[in-house]
Amino acid sequence: MIKLKMNKGHPPTLVVSAALAALLTSPFANAEPNRVTFPKLEELVHYVTVHRGNVTEHISTTREAISAIQKGEPVPNGTHFVLTDYRDEKLYRYFVMEKGAGWGRDFDDRRRTGDWQFQWFWADRKINLQENTGRCMSCHASQKNRDFLYTTRRLPEFHGQPVDW
Ligand code: HEC
Repeated sequence: MIKLKMNKGHPPTLVVSAALAALLTSPFANAEPNRVTFPKLEELVHYVTVHRGNVTEHISTTREAISAIQKGEPVPNGTHFVLTDYRDEKLYRYFVMEKGAGWGRDFDDRRRTGDWQFQWFWADRKINLQENTGRCMSCHASQKNRDFLYTTRRLPEFHGQPVDW
């Protein structure tokens, strides 16, 4: 079943084609359809910790992305960034960004965030079916000059121990 109301923010033609594509290719037919996969967490490096009241966020990415950024090179395609969100020390959800060659072309230029796509996974790794990831993209758009990433500006301080935000 296709729930068009999830896609309110899209122009109508895109809604239909994206929903159809999701129906054909994704087990999450009702979710905001996109290409983000759940990352292999055990391969990621936790480089920043954000503390905000009862919320703790662990921000992680690949070793390759960390060294690319530290050298001033572009983040490679296939990279995941993950914000693991704990509430009162209990796992609450994962916010994931993933970059792929040409992935930005799935969106019109006003919405596009380079070649990044965004997804919200609950603790059981199911997609949040209520989320339109356009919200993620519009906020991260402000970080365009840092490849749409907020916390990588702290990577110069990272030498193995996560940096406190
Ligand atoms: C209102 C602005 C805003 C929205 C909306 C938002 N983010 Fe973020 N995001 C941030 C900020 C600010 C950070 C830096 C960490 C912090 O302060 O919590 C961040 C960090 C991240 C990171 C770690 C990489 C980085 O940029 O440093 C990921 C991954 C991420 N967000 C994914 C998402 C996803 C997925 C969504 C939508 C479900 C989303 N974000 C929505 C502002 C936003």
